[in-house]
Amino acid sequence: MKTELCERFGIDVPIFGFSHAVEVVAAVTNAGGYGVYGATRRLAAEITDEVAQIRAAVGDRPFGLDLVIPNKVPERNDRAELEKQVPDVHRSFIESLESKYAVPKPSEPGMRTRFIRSEEIQDQQIEAVAASDVNMVALGIGCPPAVVELMKSRGKTTVALVGQERHAARALEAGVDLLVAQGYDAGGHTGEVGTFSLVPRIVDLAGDVPVLAAGGVATGRHIAAALALGAQGVWIGTAFLVTEEYAPHLSPGELDSLLHAQATDTVISRAESGKPFRQTRSAWSEEWAMPDAPKPLSHPLHDVLVGDILGAIIEHDIRPLQHYGAGQGIGWFDHLRPVSEVMAELVRDGDAALGKAARLRGAAA
Ligand SMILES: Cc1cc2nc3c(=O)[nH]c(=O)nc-3n(C[C@H](O)[C@H](O)[C@H](O)COP(=O)(O)O)c2cc1C
Repeated sequence: MKTELCERFGIDVPIFGFSHAVEVVAAVTNAGGYGVYGATRRLAAEITDEVAQIRAAVGDRPFGLDLVIPNKVPERNDRAELEKQVPDVHRSFIESLESKYAVPKPSEPGMRTRFIRSEEIQDQQIEAVAASDVNMVALGIGCPPAVVELMKSRGKTTVALVGQERHAARALEAGVDLLVAQGYDAGGHTGEVGTFSLVPRIVDLAGDVPVLAAGGVATGRHIAAALALGAQGVWIGTAFLVTEEYAPHLSPGELDSLLHAQATDTVISRAESGKPFRQTRSAWSEEWAMPDAPKPLSHPLHDVLVGDILGAIIEHDIRPLQHYGAGQGIGWFDHLRPVSEVMAELVRDGDAALGKAARLRGAAA
């Protein structure tokens, strides 16, 4: 299943694997794919350290790093300033959940409150990434032309994730080297257009810029379909969650929710971050969907509201409220395997699916 893109980016198979775990990123790259580290919740010094860890594990093989840079964030990393904007009705709702599910306070701020997504933090992250030897920089939300230009001037491949044609047009104008067309099926923050509807439209728009298909790619058959849609490869998140390398980063409740979920057990909710986020269904998404629940706040104000309780839910193992970002492809994964095995199966089944398609065509000719 080698495509042109493999030669251009120095990889053996056109599979890009997104993960928040350095171990998964390194394993994807070492299996011949392109590992991409989701670093948007990491501070600049942590990014420097973690990029060095991945480099030590992969040698000269390429890997990337992903940042989310929304265009409307506060200037300063100042939690107290944002706290003033949280409405009382939202505070009361969180207190009612703490009381209903007996959630004690966390011993430290949660992942979404350890710092405030702000220009101050983003600037430091961008500086750390630009100074690092990471081969590629992906932009998950937002695609500031100045960041694309900076990363390109440092010799890095630039990538933008897009969920609509107008996002793609903006990213192409900014000059990215590669687009990821991420459809509705995807885990994490996701858009409204399904992968099958989105990918060929983005391919047509992108001209010479290669496109990767994302959202629901879980088997080799999906990879073969992605290539048929005009993509030159795939970008996968969910498949790498249920792996031996990722499991230590999950609480027992989170892992349980992933191992038992089918496609219909995922739900898109703004209750996680203020933006639509596909996750496993739990009392967290259900409570926020009740008619008398307040509407989630905008991002990143919503982070300030929910960051600590989300941390407490994990710390104190409050099972009914535990959930995890996951795409509709989660139903394919019901036991832990090493990343290398997931990669080998994707490649083997992808080749088989491409062979089958060629035979079908041959039989019809
Ligand atoms: C738990 C989780 C967190 C994610 N966080 C990010 C992120 O921080 N930045 C980003 O660009 N994409 C993020 N994504 C989306 C992935 O990059 C990828 O596009 C998506 O997982 C592909 O669809 P799939 O989940 O069906 O494989 C996340 C996905 C998951 C499952």
